[in-house]
Amino acid sequence: MPDGPTADNHHGRATDPEASQTLLAVARPTAKELAIRAEGVNYWFGEGDARSQVLFDNSLEIGRGEVVIMTGPSGSGKTTLLTLIGALRRMQQGSLAVLGRDVSQLDERGAVELRKDIGFIFQSHNLFSSLSAMENVRMATALKGGPVREMNERSAGLLEQLGLGERLDHLPSQLSGGQRQRVAIARALVNGPALVLADEPTAALDAESGQIVLGLLRKLADGMERTTVLIVTHDQRVIDHADRVVSMMGGRIINNSMTRMAVRITRALAQSEILKGLNEATLTKIANVMTVEERKKGETIVSEGEPGDRYYLIGSGVAEVTRGGAYQEELYFGEGFGRITSFSGRRLENTVRAKTDMELYVLVEPDFRRIMESDQTFESRVRSLLMALNTSQ
Ligand SMILES: Nc1ncnc2c1ncn2[C@@H]1O[C@H](COP(=O)(O)OP(=O)(O)O)[C@@H](O)[C@H]1O
Ligand SMILES: [Mg+2]
Repeated sequence: MPDGPTADNHHGRATDPEASQTLLAVARPTAKELAIRAEGVNYWFGEGDARSQVLFDNSLEIGRGEVVIMTGPSGSGKTTLLTLIGALRRMQQGSLAVLGRDVSQLDERGAVELRKDIGFIFQSHNLFSSLSAMENVRMATALKGGPVREMNERSAGLLEQLGLGERLDHLPSQLSGGQRQRVAIARALVNGPALVLADEPTAALDAESGQIVLGLLRKLADGMERTTVLIVTHDQRVIDHADRVVSMMGGRIINNSMTRMAVRITRALAQSEILKGLNEATLTKIANVMTVEERKKGETIVSEGEPGDRYYLIGSGVAEVTRGGAYQEELYFGEGFGRITSFSGRRLENTVRAKTDMELYVLVEPDFRRIMESDQTFESRVRSLLMALNTSQ
């Protein structure tokens, strides 16, 4: 079995050098797939002596289709950061790209345009008191335009999904706080925004409506729309629906926890024959620097006789191993191949092709060496594998 320190050939797709640096990039190989990219964002309230900094050097990347939860104590800067992302207040320092637009360069008109692609769910929902639930939602569709019938159907459909099918004609005053909040949520979603920004959206909701709302947001994120969702909340129940949790404290993002993708990679690593028995911390460390690549059915991933500088782990699909044109074996989820040949000085012994479309997790040589240097258990595992390799012939 192709084992030991590993990696792909030099003809493989180049890995974005920046991407392998961060945990977030694990799930998203390209910058254009990012819905939000903040870097070094600072923010101050007040003037002169009263000027005080409330955001400190915040960096954050959120990919399309991700559902990210932001938590943190009151006053930690969550709402301020959210309103910067929503182009509701002016950037002061740092860089911020939202839906591919540079927010610090936007004039008022650009900001208005950007906001049209964002669904805001804030605590003060400001429904029109003289309009019914349905009319409140339908009004928002006028912003985008379209056939009246379709707008009506979309509005009614969303209200139904949010459990308000029986209350389309009710005025806000005839609805409970939680129901009004759901009308506001339908209004925020009815134009199919690419990005949803929600500030404590479930605060006024009972447990069941909270689940309905989050279930709907999750569905939009997982669907064709790949809606990106950023939710400020303290609600523990909401966290189950999230890909990632970001915590703020004292104006700083202090924790950017593991993505679902990294969780998946860790699971695949734990299956791997050569890594069996390594502790969770080591596997997590490896998962966090691995990047995701896709290969189409029939593509050659590594070729025998070539040097290798990457290790591959199968996330999904089937690979076929051949040597000298002869079939060797098939590889599945959790199995690895490719080798970092600079350790042994030998060339790759096998050719590996994608037998189906595949998702691969890739560890490149510099990251491989970095983990070896910082992690004793990994280092000794690699050493013993090398030893086995050298005595095998
Ligand atoms: N309009 C404002 N003027 C001055 N200070 C503000 C204003 N809004 C918020 N702040 C301060 O900025 C800090 C962050 O607030 P905020 O972003 O609302 O935090 P969070 O949403 O996490 O509770 C707090 O110290 C708050 O008092
Ligand atoms: Mg707030």
